[in-house]
Amino acid sequence: MQAFLDAILAGASGDELAALALPESYRAAHVRRDEAEMFAGVASSDKDPRKSLHVGEVAVPELAPDEAYVAVMASAINFNTVWTSIFEPLPTFGFLDRLGKEGYWGTRHALDHHVVGSDASGVVVRVGSAVRNWRPGDRVVIHCNYVDDQDPSAHDDSMLAANQRIWGFESNFGGLADLTVVKANQLMPKPAHLSWEESAINALCNSTAYRMLVSRNGAAMKQGDRVLVWGASGGLGSYAVQHVLNGGGTPVGVVSSPAKVALLHDLGVDAVIDRRVADYRFWSDEHTQDESEWRRFGKDIRTLVGDDVDIVFEHPGRQTMGASVFACKRAGTIVTCAATSGYMIEYDNRHLWMKLKTIKGSHFANYREAWDANQLICQGKVLPPLSAVYALEEVGEAAYQVHHNLHEGKIGVLALAPREGLGIDDPELRAKVGEDRITLFRRHGV
Ligand SMILES: NC(=O)c1ccc[n+]([C@@H]2O[C@H](COP(=O)([O-])OP(=O)(O)OC[C@H]3O[C@@H](n4cnc5c(N)ncnc54)[C@H](OP(=O)(O)O)[C@@H]3O)[C@@H](O)[C@H]2O)c1
Repeated sequence: MQAFLDAILAGASGDELAALALPESYRAAHVRRDEAEMFAGVASSDKDPRKSLHVGEVAVPELAPDEAYVAVMASAINFNTVWTSIFEPLPTFGFLDRLGKEGYWGTRHALDHHVVGSDASGVVVRVGSAVRNWRPGDRVVIHCNYVDDQDPSAHDDSMLAANQRIWGFESNFGGLADLTVVKANQLMPKPAHLSWEESAINALCNSTAYRMLVSRNGAAMKQGDRVLVWGASGGLGSYAVQHVLNGGGTPVGVVSSPAKVALLHDLGVDAVIDRRVADYRFWSDEHTQDESEWRRFGKDIRTLVGDDVDIVFEHPGRQTMGASVFACKRAGTIVTCAATSGYMIEYDNRHLWMKLKTIKGSHFANYREAWDANQLICQGKVLPPLSAVYALEEVGEAAYQVHHNLHEGKIGVLALAPREGLGIDDPELRAKVGEDRITLFRRHGV
């Protein structure tokens, strides 16, 4: 891949890139099938991504007609890479094997290694014969909705497709690598004012937060809404609070340290709760929740913003769902996309039905939603919450940081990009958006 990197750094044309020979193998972060049981009997928090994530050469797969090879300049850590690397809740090789049963092109994915990663920025270097809208040389970011567009179920909202998958989690050849293979309908323009690593981190979490809050498929937030955002300086939350602010709402951010409170204030979020300082005990023991603690939480929210919240942006799951359902306003919406602390959820249903609340499930975003969310990044209206950058060789440590909640915002990973700060094509727009605003999380982070 060195020849591609040299050509990209030298500003080679698309034709020149297309004329370069593809290598037989490429460097990729992956887990191994024969290690899927390596953490058997180990507590979740002790399962160490640094032991299971390997970086090494893997074979370049064949290209399907509707796909593109992208030389990856940078990628990012998402929580799904943590799940894959600790083999929870299940080893992801089951997903690959299922995809492997879907015809000739599907069989490529069912391998004994799984190349992970569901975000990337880079340069298109080849396109399949059926690709119309993209060419070698295009600078792109990649969203992770992987759908078979010949399946009728994918043609209302593609997130409803029967065989919808997340690239780099439920498919192989993910973004934490020097090369990736993606469907052409995963490609989106790279934000011209951002570096490779600032561009690489956004698509998964920004699009997910956009669907949850802004899209009519989610909570369809309106001006004036108060929105409770758990993990408000984390991967999802740092986009969610920006969408709320942009949409004329009032975010109430929940975080767990004074540094994160300060970061959110700098981002423009006035109402912030430090859950460690507040020391909420929503669960009095493993099986019992304490309604008086939900009430204390609700009171704290009302003290900050004057009323209950119209929307709760949920993802911690078991630890917080009871409180989320309680704290949501009459007729409000709890929109959830995850359950980091446990997926067997308990809440008091009386608070849901008597006050006509809705719990809405949401998962990633369709191409249109991802595209619209990416436009907000391209226009400088949503800032990239990049807090730290690791080399691809350090991917295990980067995943460890996310696993143990030691990070803020998003962690970027350099693939082919030899250093930070490259790839900025529009310095004027960057200056207009503001260097200080763009680098806010980076200056807070390590
Ligand atoms: N379905 C989808 O499409 C989709 C997309 C993206 C992510 N996800 C999932 O969503 C979850 C969050 O992803 P992320 O990228 O935002 O992760 P992240 O960067 O780790 O941020 C999550 C934040 O949640 C807060 N948190 C964690 N455990 C908590 C608990 N028990 N109680 C209260 N707050 C807690 C933490 O913030 P504080 O410690 O500061 O409070 C943490 O920073 C993951 O499970 C991920 O797999 C799903």
